[in-house]
Amino acid sequence: MRLALAILALVTVAAVSFLEFRGKVSKEPPVQVFDDMDNQSKLDPQGGSAFFADGRASRPAVPGTVARATGLEPAKVLQPGYRRAESMNPEFVTGKDAAGAWLAAFPRLSLKLGADGQLLPYKVDADVLALGRKKYGIHCAVCHGAVADGAGILKARSAIEGAESMPTIANLQTTLYRAYPAGQIYDVITHGKNTMMPYGEFLTPEERWAVVAYVRALQLSQACPPELAPESVKATAK
Ligand code: HEC
Repeated sequence: MRLALAILALVTVAAVSFLEFRGKVSKEPPVQVFDDMDNQSKLDPQGGSAFFADGRASRPAVPGTVARATGLEPAKVLQPGYRRAESMNPEFVTGKDAAGAWLAAFPRLSLKLGADGQLLPYKVDADVLALGRKKYGIHCAVCHGAVADGAGILKARSAIEGAESMPTIANLQTTLYRAYPAGQIYDVITHGKNTMMPYGEFLTPEERWAVVAYVRALQLSQACPPELAPESVKATAK
């Protein structure tokens, strides 16, 4: 027993004298039994490199690279008045009024400044709907379907056995969602909801309201009050 303890003490002293205490600072290179990927030839960000003609290690983006999200373009960000319109019009950006309630309809004012420095009124016109249609087609239709009835291609795929499924996609043509305040739909786009991911990173506030407008148009298209139907449609219905 005593011998075993003596050997253990000897081994411990030998190991500590060879490997040093943990945390000890040394100028010598560390003992590396398995060096794995500790030492690699690599270029550091913002560092120099003789390999490239311009001597820089960091490479500029390839021409035509598409920035993810809206990007922070320095020239734009550093302009005086950048985001001034947003700070003047919080309801446009949040979808909520000053009291924190959802906007029932669209914001009164836009993010465009008039010559007098005041915000111009927001109008849902054909251009806004066209933008909304485009963005809805890109970002929403795969799940919610071309007419917002929740029967997009992902829903169809969910029915295939063994395919990745997403059975909870909301049907936006129900009474519940037809009655949703516009600001709440805006907020779902910005922040997502439960299993739906947020789209605020991909759509500017203006694009989000355009999508809300297009969702409203789709809802109307599937539950059109007779008095709103165009004359041509009324004629064929007779
Ligand atoms: C990848 C699929 C997917 C995409 C794309 C998608 N959604 Fe959804 N959406 C869902 C799912 C799933 C739900 C149900 C979330 C839940 O569990 O409550 C939902 C719910 C909603 C709701 C109802 C939220 C509530 O309060 O109950 C709205 C409104 C909505 N989506 C709008 C949109 C709009 C507008 C877009 C495009 C910008 C979009 N969605 C893109 C999957 C998607």
